[in-house]
Amino acid sequence: MARKITIEPVTRVEGHGKVTILLDDKNRVERTRLHIVEFRGFERFVQGRPYWEAPVLVQRLCGICPVSHHLAAAKAMDVIAGVGPEGLSPTAEKMRRLMHYGQMFQSHALHFFHLASPDLLFGADADPAIRNVIGVALYHRELATRGVLLRKFGQEIILATAGKKIHGTGAIPGGINKNLTAEERDSFLKGPAPLDIDTMITWALEAVEFFKDFHRKNKELIDSFAAFPSNHLSLVRKDGGLDFYHGALRAVDTDGRKVLDDVDYADYLKYIGEDIKTWSYMKFPFLRSLGKEDGWYRVGPLARLNCCEFIPTPLAQHEYEIFKAYTGGRPNGMSLHTHWARLIELLHAGEVIKELLNDPDLQKDDLTRKGKKAFEGVGLVEAPRGTLFHHYRIDADDRISMANLIVSTTNNNEPMNRAVNWVALNVIDGQAKITEGMLNRVEIAIRAYDPCLSCATHALGRMPLEIEMIDAEGAIIDKRSR
Ligand code: MG
Ligand code: NI
Repeated sequence: MARKITIEPVTRVEGHGKVTILLDDKNRVERTRLHIVEFRGFERFVQGRPYWEAPVLVQRLCGICPVSHHLAAAKAMDVIAGVGPEGLSPTAEKMRRLMHYGQMFQSHALHFFHLASPDLLFGADADPAIRNVIGVALYHRELATRGVLLRKFGQEIILATAGKKIHGTGAIPGGINKNLTAEERDSFLKGPAPLDIDTMITWALEAVEFFKDFHRKNKELIDSFAAFPSNHLSLVRKDGGLDFYHGALRAVDTDGRKVLDDVDYADYLKYIGEDIKTWSYMKFPFLRSLGKEDGWYRVGPLARLNCCEFIPTPLAQHEYEIFKAYTGGRPNGMSLHTHWARLIELLHAGEVIKELLNDPDLQKDDLTRKGKKAFEGVGLVEAPRGTLFHHYRIDADDRISMANLIVSTTNNNEPMNRAVNWVALNVIDGQAKITEGMLNRVEIAIRAYDPCLSCATHALGRMPLEIEMIDAEGAIIDKRSR
């Protein structure tokens, strides 16, 4: 008799996900699946709208990552406006970079301090009443305060560059609609932004130290939990450096060999396919050269540090060298090391923000460029959660006739399924009853990938879970929820 366990994350926003674990009559795990109902209407919703509206419209896709969608769409529209992807004025490109690195800063701070740190500080078996951001605020007040202020700093950067914290209109086809005033600059350099960029960088560095210290004390957990080899995909700069805003598309395999050798992302359809499975609305992207079975890959902080060759800021580069040395330079497939990579990126984002703030180009008035119009454009960025693809075609009346998006969370579909499967095989297998600890471990495995299920459902804070054991006749024989 086969039994089925269902774990259902309930969300406050668009999208819905659940995990099912099918057991055989000996309680051995037979199969696990992460099902996600994607917000699918969007690619059709933008059809018929004037192309210049896209960078604003696409922010309705998701309340969590509006800046990422704004910039990916703007980059695609730069191509349609005949200037992109590398023809922007220095002021426009640097303002967009400042916006994007501000978004990365606030998103990574939010994820680590609000979502990930409770799992690390209190452990997977802790009372869920404590194992959340409230628990962090009660027992680790300084850490919680820093989390709030780091995030706020990033949000203020977004406000100053995009015009609004959410649904800003900063980037327009061919450029940007404002520069950074000297007053805005000084608020970030010297405070009160909240506080100043140097304090933010110091705190980011101390967050990396916090993780390394936790890792030293919990090696077994951090190194083994949901660890598995994979391919990795990200944009990299022409010289192989880490870059969140622009670059060529690179993929490496589990031995670090280049599977995609810095190709032009405008040709992504040649290199990336999307498989469809009957049991999930979320597609399964893969590298065509390796095929559907073997071509799946990770994206996000871990994948980015596996694909790049260096980080072009000094403090983050130093931490990158320590990170790389831990695996002897080989690609890192340990899911919980994603938190380490994410904090190195937080530090890097802080350093880049400081460099940009000190660049006088940001106060110049050369904001937009124009060129010969094209009818198709592709725009990619490295969003906080990983590579984000936007692709549009327009008709003779300047209206969008086709839109294709591959969001970061979709790129991580197979890795998240593998992570859940790891928990099923290593924690749940052989157990007859569902425990709180099992639920927590499923949550921790998925959370390492920081899924935005709103872009593909996003549960801020504690991920509400429901788990059911169902026998072959469909009767519920065990049930837990929180
Ligand atoms: Mg799509
Ligand atoms: Ni999102």
